[in-house]
Amino acid sequence: MPLSNRLICIALALGFAASPGPFVVHTARADADPEALIDALNAVFGKHDGKRAAHTNGICVKGAFTPAEKASDYSKAPHLTGKGPFPLVGRFSMGGGAPEAPNTQKDNVRGLALHIEIGKDNVTDMVLISAPVFAAKTPEQFLSLLQTVATKDPEKIGAFFKANPESTRQTAWLMARPVPASYATATYYGVHTFTLTNGDGQKKIIKWHVVPKGGDVGLSDEDAKSKAAGFYTPELTDRLAKGPAVFELKAVLGNEGDEQNDPTVEWTGTDRKSVVLGEISISALEDNATCDAGIFDPSNVVDGIEGPANDPIFAIRSSAYAVSLSRRGQQ
Ligand code: HEM
Repeated sequence: MPLSNRLICIALALGFAASPGPFVVHTARADADPEALIDALNAVFGKHDGKRAAHTNGICVKGAFTPAEKASDYSKAPHLTGKGPFPLVGRFSMGGGAPEAPNTQKDNVRGLALHIEIGKDNVTDMVLISAPVFAAKTPEQFLSLLQTVATKDPEKIGAFFKANPESTRQTAWLMARPVPASYATATYYGVHTFTLTNGDGQKKIIKWHVVPKGGDVGLSDEDAKSKAAGFYTPELTDRLAKGPAVFELKAVLGNEGDEQNDPTVEWTGTDRKSVVLGEISISALEDNATCDAGIFDPSNVVDGIEGPANDPIFAIRSSAYAVSLSRRGQQ
């Protein structure tokens, strides 16, 4: 792909091979507040009337969440202790702010966002991507990354990645794996560290993984090339006509010493335990207007689930999404 196209398609994954060049530590040109982050996303991807500044290309779905019996051992959250099934609205998406981001792109994340309806006027959200890490550990670093990419200057971009190696991890992870064959055959990761508290007050740190029951299925590079840019929507339509797409909600348990506040760091290790806390079943497409009416808010959690206290990316996401929503009607 020519350099210019690669820059246009560039996603939140922001994959760009570090090119040799002068060692320049790029500093942000504005405070990394939510407005500046949305401006920077728009500078990379353009402003698109009525659309999200990121994860612009997506599709709305519906289904249900059913907790596993032992989920209440881990959390007192109502949807993990209650009977279920709890109705849900979800949205699959491509990372980045390009409305036509191709489904065939390897160095881009897929997104899964969920509103789980726990009761009347009570909804909890999850917002996940198809890689275990994000491309920046602070809003400042993310702003700087976007502003550097917006220059389209390969030397500056190469220097950025050299000075910020943690920002290359997501793309490296994606490039080492195949293009998902379907939105329904990718594993989605919460990326941040959450704390679960059960009815006895016992706490555990975890990371969410949403794993397709049929396993991850990818395409060979050759097969991916033969697909249409928008093949995920007809694929999902056909798939759901035959039956639901089912995922397990897994809590991967943290160990002592695990990094809890940097979403560029993956929890690794062969001794790592996980527990299945429920099942997410996607049964049908939903009117996109349902998903576009508001934001999926990663900080919208309920008693029994807490986000990380000192993860600056987690802390800013909700307000950045609110700015994106407020601008959707203005362009
Ligand atoms: C400072 C860091 C981040 C910024 C500035 C940012 C920005 C955005 C924006 C502007 C949107 C669209 C909001 C809307 O209009 O509804 C969005 C959506 C999304 N983001 Fe982020 N994001 C950040 C971090 C993350 C991380 C760490 C993840 C990983 C889980 C993530 C996953 C998603 C997903 C899956 C969506 C799509 C939600 C939907 O379908 O509506 N983002 N992001």
